[in-house]
Amino acid sequence: MTIIVTGGAGFIGSNFVFHMLKAHPDYRIVCVDKLTYAGNLSTLESVIDNPNFRFCKLDICDREGIDKLFEEERPDIVVNFAAESHVDRSIENPEIFLQTNIIGTSVMMDASRKYDIKRYHQVSTDEVYGDLPLDRPDLFFTETTPIHTSSPYSSSKAGADLLVLAYHRTYGLPVTISRCSNNYGPYHFPEKLIPLMIANALADKPLPVYGKGENVRDWLYVEDHCKAIDLIIHRGRVGEVYNVGGHNEMANIDIVRLICKELGKPESLITYVTDRKGHDMRYAIDPTKIHNELGWLPETKFADGIKKTIRWYLDNEKWWKNIISGEYQNYYERMYGDR
Ligand code: NAD
Ligand code: TYD
Repeated sequence: MTIIVTGGAGFIGSNFVFHMLKAHPDYRIVCVDKLTYAGNLSTLESVIDNPNFRFCKLDICDREGIDKLFEEERPDIVVNFAAESHVDRSIENPEIFLQTNIIGTSVMMDASRKYDIKRYHQVSTDEVYGDLPLDRPDLFFTETTPIHTSSPYSSSKAGADLLVLAYHRTYGLPVTISRCSNNYGPYHFPEKLIPLMIANALADKPLPVYGKGENVRDWLYVEDHCKAIDLIIHRGRVGEVYNVGGHNEMANIDIVRLICKELGKPESLITYVTDRKGHDMRYAIDPTKIHNELGWLPETKFADGIKKTIRWYLDNEKWWKNIISGEYQNYYERMYGDR
């Protein structure tokens, strides 16, 4: 079995590569990644010499390059993680999101059709459903919740999802889609909430909370997401969407307070800053379908997962300090300088 994993040098993709090499030692995993600002080859250091692993620096929008790779590898399965993934960057500059997230997806699916792959899996997000109000805790996203996006990021992901379903209906491409809630864990890029707060707290820098910090996200440990995708690509029904989430809703401010507590840092570091434009209020997944059909349940409780994650950032300072010392400084200044 040969699996092409795009975006495998990013946060979730790399965790998926590690999971698959461990769970299926007889599979060949071919990682395609353009190594944008969010991709890091050093993340894949521990597997780069594994004979069942190949890394290919390639843009998923590069039709010729992707076709050549499919010709060489003749993959059985494609799992498409590659994307521009940060909402704040999409608000600053939407175009690259449309390019990678929509055009890139179509290039991957065209190659998948041409080479007759057995399964094309699209890694999507709960953000395609828009948001839920804070005063309706009884509401959750199901797979039939209408798509109703808020940001250029979520719109580009929704556009890709529609295209994936269209390729299934029009060409019979054997597709599946997973829509997961917010992930956390090792190798999470420091621009995102949890690693940003850990890095800033460790440096005794202000912790920039958008708005009042009352926005709610539904957090899932990254390994649980990887296990869900593993199940879907093997046993999920073709043409279906699966929501993935573990009923772990938390307000941003509570996460930041928890990080302060775990690191022994004062809450006086918390600084309320101008809210994100179009900021989604609450995400909450109903994972009944994947539980009933595939038996998936999250295994890591948030209380344990956040401790493991903080430990990982303490033990792997080199990885994230290397990132935040470079071009990231300019991004940080642009995004937070006079916020
Ligand atoms: P990430 O930004 O950490 O990683 C993205 C990876 O894709 C990087 O390695 C980057 O170099 C690569 N990439 C970007 N453009 C590319 C291109 N044109 N060609 C090839 N490679 C390219 O993102 P992530 O958080 O790991 O998210 C992975 C996927 O999961 C995305 O599709 C995202 O929408 C989805 N998702 C993320 C979350 C989350 O909480 N992070 C939740 C649900 C779904
Ligand atoms: P983020 O990690 O960017 O994920 P997403 O927007 O895809 O859910 O942000 C998570 C939440 O944290 C979101 O409500 C925005 C908020 N946030 C802050 O308050 N401050 C920050 O510096 C960042 C990056 C995010």
